[in-house]
Amino acid sequence: MLKIGILGSGSGSNMQSIVDAVEAGTLDARVVCVLSDVADAGILARAARHNIPHHYVDPAPFKTKLEGAAEERVIGLLQEYGADTIALAGFMRVVKSGLLQAFPRRVLNIHPSLLPAFPGLAAWKQALTYGVKVTGCTVHFVDEGIDSGPIIIQRSVPILDDDTIETLHARIQVEEHKAYPEALRLLAAGRLRFDGRRVLGT
Ligand code: GRF
Repeated sequence: MLKIGILGSGSGSNMQSIVDAVEAGTLDARVVCVLSDVADAGILARAARHNIPHHYVDPAPFKTKLEGAAEERVIGLLQEYGADTIALAGFMRVVKSGLLQAFPRRVLNIHPSLLPAFPGLAAWKQALTYGVKVTGCTVHFVDEGIDSGPIIIQRSVPILDDDTIETLHARIQVEEHKAYPEALRLLAAGRLRFDGRRVLGT
């Protein structure tokens, strides 16, 4: 059974999809803790509602990355709760080598585009303004780059003429909530294997 530590900065709807799959018995895992760099993030309130240990970790002095004392505290908490798999779920900071080396090939992320298209912030908005006709979401292992690690699962979403950034993001999120539990299910089943940067077994 996976012991998942979740890191997030926002509303936590992806965390909710993972918790729902665990509670429904369709994902052989336990969410051991939820950590956030935002003190009043919805993800912490959701963890509280499910009696999952949760903590705010002050990210200072960094604005966009997780490093230094905050990184050490996050690694310490994840180890304390016995996490063996880390799921970034709307975590708005770049994770650095400290966390990646503490959990080699066990840090996953979900990104709201079909990578390698549109890495970085507000990927649904990037896709809409670029004019592509299909976008989606990607669950991938995290490496030292930005949204560049080995891809586990992708789900596509068509872009409609009357889409706004809100409607498009909402439809991408519907697919995210299927993709993240599915990727974790494959990991829990021991199905995933690497061939260079390809992830096989999906
Ligand atoms: C998702 O769209 C995810 O792909 C991106 O940030 C958003 C987080 O949403 N990385 P939520 O907090 O899980 O609702």
